[in-house]
Amino acid sequence: MSILAYEQTIQEGSSVYLYENYETIHPIIIRKGSIFQCRFGAFHHADLIGLRYGSKIFARTGMGWMYCLAPTAELWTIALTHRTQILYAVDISIVCMYLELKPGCVVLESGTGSGSLSTSIARTVAPNGHLYTFEFHELRAKQAQEDFKANKLQELITVTHRDVCKLGFGMSHVADAIFLDLPSPWVVVPSASEALKPNGMLCSFSPCIEQVQKTCEALREAGFAELQTLECLLRIHDVKPTQVEHMSFGDEEPLEAGSSGPASGAGPTPSGAHTQTHDSDQDGQCMEDASGPTSIPAENCETDPPSEIQHELLIEPGESSSEQGPSGTGAVP
Ligand SMILES: C[S@@+](CC[C@H](N)C(=O)[O-])C[C@H]1O[C@@H](n2cnc3c(N)ncnc32)[C@H](O)[C@@H]1O
Repeated sequence: MSILAYEQTIQEGSSVYLYENYETIHPIIIRKGSIFQCRFGAFHHADLIGLRYGSKIFARTGMGWMYCLAPTAELWTIALTHRTQILYAVDISIVCMYLELKPGCVVLESGTGSGSLSTSIARTVAPNGHLYTFEFHELRAKQAQEDFKANKLQELITVTHRDVCKLGFGMSHVADAIFLDLPSPWVVVPSASEALKPNGMLCSFSPCIEQVQKTCEALREAGFAELQTLECLLRIHDVKPTQVEHMSFGDEEPLEAGSSGPASGAGPTPSGAHTQTHDSDQDGQCMEDASGPTSIPAENCETDPPSEIQHELLIEPGESSSEQGPSGTGAVP
């Protein structure tokens, strides 16, 4: 099992993401004899072998349990070790969409950073596309390469230790798309233009409008057309049962006991209880972040028999998904 290949059951050598809660996910490779230790206790890899992905695994010591999830690019963005600021789900989605990525595409990226976006790009261009990612911080480049190998993406991603601002990409007319997440992206625009195929797409991700302005100027000078600047904001809503006081709207007819209330099914009911819009697990606690909310148990310390995870999609009020305030620039040369 990897981000690219689907399997139902966990075996020796399988990649498993141990899910504690939405913010805490531990990626492991199953090795009989190995033990994963955390605050919930000791989890013996051998106990996972033969389980279906999605199962609960109980610690042999302690009372804790976690879910054994299959690796995905989405979960990797949450689980990865942050060596830099990273792109999150909303920005990644819009970048992949606007760059028109699909299987077979050749993509250039700089910098690699923590490899959050790289992982999603690789998953999108697989099985016959390729991502060439450039990073000038040697250790980061090496660590990213190790992460890609652990996720079995090494055939799809080439990591190059290189300062693209000084040396450029060193390629001509090979790329369907280029993504820049650099402090001075405008410096790289001439080299990116050279590396793109005709009609190729370029996206630059910058936290400051001044950076965006300079990049747009450089893109126009290099002959790029159809420039767009976007900011993606994620709005999350919390939808759950709650009690509100009955509000009078004047001459409304009193509803009889047992009536189903307003035809829409929304709004206050005669008893004053707000209509339930989702029947979440009573023991569940809604935890969410910008990448996508889900309902999970508050405590990983119950003794229920193992069952498979059930995701419930909720929407919660919240902020933008990006640590950087995102402003993207898309363009066609
Ligand atoms: C914000 S991080 C990229 C994060 C990445 N998009 C992700 O989602 O994980 C920016 C990276 O660009 C690298 N970088 C900065 N200037 C560079 C240059 N001139 N050439 C190559 N890499 C550079 C930095 O070392 C850093 O790792």
